Amino acid sequence: MGDMNQIRNIVILTGAGISAESGIDTFRSGGGLWEQHRVEDVATPEAFARDPNLVHRFYDARRAAIQEKEPNAAHFALGRLEAEWPGKLLLVTQNVDDLHERGGASRVLHMHGEHLKAWCTSCDVRSLWRGPLLDRPACPVCQARSLRPDVVWFGEMPYRMGEIYAALREADLFVSIGTSGAVYPAAGFVQNARELGARTLELNLERSQGSHHFHESRLGPASEVVPQWVAEMLG
Ligand code: APR
Repeated sequence: MGDMNQIRNIVILTGAGISAESGIDTFRSGGGLWEQHRVEDVATPEAFARDPNLVHRFYDARRAAIQEKEPNAAHFALGRLEAEWPGKLLLVTQNVDDLHERGGASRVLHMHGEHLKAWCTSCDVRSLWRGPLLDRPACPVCQARSLRPDVVWFGEMPYRMGEIYAALREADLFVSIGTSGAVYPAAGFVQNARELGARTLELNLERSQGSHHFHESRLGPASEVVPQWVAEMLG
């Protein structure tokens, strides 16, 4: 890593790997979610139009499952870093679980949406939601029975990209944690950051598709590597 005390502004991107040790399946490592389901059957607008009950059952099961899981040491370490870091820090996650929030982070940018939100396709309001959607409950705001998971499906635009690119322009350090670098636009952030002069660090269990873009890669489980890095940053 470069000289730590020249680092003021940090952007962190996390992926499913940071929640793996909390017992939430990743997508592409052995037995991952996408090995059990065809993405195009459950995670596209076309799938939802074709078979809404199948899609609701898939997301109802995942929404329930994450509520039985607990944050791990990596989530808590990032919560501490966000609270104590003197410069700017933006935590962007591809994850749709709420483990970063329960790990103490308060300003999490969920670029792929959140399991614990329902999006009304009638009034466009997003409401906190913990139960199932299969039985077509009424939207808390407009009462229409037109709620969908507030998760960004393939072919849909990720959320708040303008804020992410603005933060990357100011970043002195970009850190990618627990992501395979398989899905854009998130997989391209490291190149944006590097072109804009930031240092880039990858913390991942194994080499990812994007490892060659990083100045430094540290391999190991997030619950060990992330607290170690946070301790370094907070000196
Ligand atoms: N600690 C750190 N990294 C881990 C751990 C762990 N304990 N376990 C797995 N990993 C790493 C894997 O090596 C892999 O590189 O986490 C990464 C998980 O990759 P994916 O399963 O592809 O998940 P992710 O990168 O978040 O997927 C990105 O794809 O399907 C879409 O919208 C979905 O947000 C998701 C996006």
